Amino acid sequence: MRKCMIILSLIISSSAYAQKYEELSLTPPMGWNSWNTFQCNVSEKLVMETADIIASSGMKEAGYAYVVIDDCWMLKERDPKTGDLVADPAKFPHGMKALADYVHSKGLKFGLYNCAGTKTCAGYPGTRGFEYQDARYYASLGIDYLKFDWCNTEGINGEEAYTTMSKALRAASRPIVFSLCDWGTNKPWRWASHVGQLWRTTGDIGPYFDRGKTKEGWEPNSVMRNLDLNDTLNQYAGPGHWNDPDMLEVGNGMTESEDRTHFSIWCMMASPLIAGNDLRSMSPATKSILTNKEVIAIDQDSLGVQGFRYSNQDSLQTWFKPLKDGGWALCFLNRSLKVQKISYDWKTQVITDPVSHRQLDPASSVFKIFNLWTKKEQGNTSKELNAELPAHDVLMLRLTK
Ligand code: GLA
Repeated sequence: MRKCMIILSLIISSSAYAQKYEELSLTPPMGWNSWNTFQCNVSEKLVMETADIIASSGMKEAGYAYVVIDDCWMLKERDPKTGDLVADPAKFPHGMKALADYVHSKGLKFGLYNCAGTKTCAGYPGTRGFEYQDARYYASLGIDYLKFDWCNTEGINGEEAYTTMSKALRAASRPIVFSLCDWGTNKPWRWASHVGQLWRTTGDIGPYFDRGKTKEGWEPNSVMRNLDLNDTLNQYAGPGHWNDPDMLEVGNGMTESEDRTHFSIWCMMASPLIAGNDLRSMSPATKSILTNKEVIAIDQDSLGVQGFRYSNQDSLQTWFKPLKDGGWALCFLNRSLKVQKISYDWKTQVITDPVSHRQLDPASSVFKIFNLWTKKEQGNTSKELNAELPAHDVLMLRLTK
């Protein structure tokens, strides 16, 4: 009997550790977030119009589900009586619950932002000391996603702070995707796989393809910088727990090939796909990048392996990602400003994914090649591949047995 009790208490204590909803985000979350384009200019009107477009433009069918309001949705003070957060009535005249209901009525999911510190990065009330109360408030609104930032956290232990919020969300009994946003400061990939569904691995992204260090002071990272910060962390990603190299800048001012490259490589890395552009004025080119179902299928592949950089020569990189069906995604990436020639002899290379240990050996079986951007069959792996790759562009292929 005593032995049974000990075993039972061991089970209870180990399940208390598994605080997050493990069944959420078995593939990387997809959605839209207000920050990259709108910063503090958020409103009920913007969110409703955005949800309408996601539902009507084909984005919902392509997989975009979460509509997330970032910083600046609150009043500067909590409710003096209850201590609850208060949505700014000037920006959200019908209140946050009505907006959550509206987003849900479109068949989409709704998310909000807060911060582990005393204040958010923009100076609104943070959650420090209010974790359980805020989690209950979010559950009462019916939110499905919480992005949780790291400003104003001096002296706080990151693992403890995020774990507390994760437990608070669990205690509020609503399955809410928990998106850790500490910019990689506390190396969350080492401890957060049971705390949240995704964690930022980098500082903030900006709509720049590549650039070194710029002027003094804070500047957002380029797409290539965030790629480099994220690409060595492949061993930590998997179903339900993803590395997040930040939200998408597709449609925010880079060239079309740079946008295509950004999107392709985020999909190769099984990154969360959170659009960050103004969907109301998106060009047909932007829309076709964001809704390329074949490329999204690489990101959302249920094997859940983050692809890896196999080679890097003269700013020409080759990336591989094993897929559930035994196929592979392959992406040649030209980071340089000159046209680069690709010549790839399949039969001389055996590729081994370091995480899944799957092997691609075109010498022992021939794979069909599908070009994921032209959407055309492109021969098979029995012949050498020769192509020219323009500056800042990709050749992204799916290999099928
Ligand atoms: C931090 C985050 C951004 C955004 C802003 C909001 O910089 O990393 O993604 O949420 O705060 O203030």
